[in-house]
Amino acid sequence: MFYRTEDDHGLRHNPFNAIIVPRPIGWISSCDAEGRVNLAPYSFFNGVAYHPPQIMYASTGDADRGDGLKDSIANIRETGEFAVNLVSYDLREAMNRTAVPAPRGVDEFEVAGLTKAPCETIGAPRVAESPVTLECRLVQIVDLPSTNPATPNRAVFGHVTAIHIADAVLVDGVVDIGKLAPISRLGYRDYARVGEVFSMTRPTWPLAESDGR
Ligand SMILES: Cc1cc2nc3c(=O)[nH]c(=O)nc-3n(C[C@H](O)[C@H](O)[C@H](O)COP(=O)(O)O)c2cc1C
Repeated sequence: MFYRTEDDHGLRHNPFNAIIVPRPIGWISSCDAEGRVNLAPYSFFNGVAYHPPQIMYASTGDADRGDGLKDSIANIRETGEFAVNLVSYDLREAMNRTAVPAPRGVDEFEVAGLTKAPCETIGAPRVAESPVTLECRLVQIVDLPSTNPATPNRAVFGHVTAIHIADAVLVDGVVDIGKLAPISRLGYRDYARVGEVFSMTRPTWPLAESDGR
């Protein structure tokens, strides 16, 4: 099939996020200016640079919130900092609970029965149960086009200032993917765990015969 995105795709569900897969999940913890804590998952999330390490996540607009902003981005605008926690398989249900559209000011750590641990370089707490946390300072919020002004789309870029890695997932100085057990977002209601893992070495120039010359 082929369709132009301004036209109807004619399928039962929008296939857009079912074909950009698998997506890592950034579980964003933040505080507002009064110190009220928030936690929510975002799968329009990825790393974007090494030096300094930077990440981005995107917040789609929400017409049910007065200013159209979800709580995480509203908090990050106020304080300029946030943490990204990794969602391991055993945290899947808790992560899902924190996606509830709770009113601003509701602490989703409490909603999901999660433990707060302090961060070192930012004020927001991290998820103690999560094996990895990236502490982030806001670099830039980029306004993105939106088909409805009441639902603004925005991308948040953050500089990763510190990283927590649980010793239990480090084996011989390498992050063990089996112990990390991250989940990723697929389309519809689906998620995936990492199954088969394989390695490839990047080719150098000129290509060798073994590189498919
Ligand atoms: C796995 C998962 C991934 C999500 N990814 C996004 C996303 O990339 N962008 C977005 O705006 N909302 C996303 N959501 C929905 C938000 O988590 C939801 O709107 C939440 O209530 C926002 O919380 P907040 O207002 O406390 O930030 C996702 C939900 C789930 C369960």
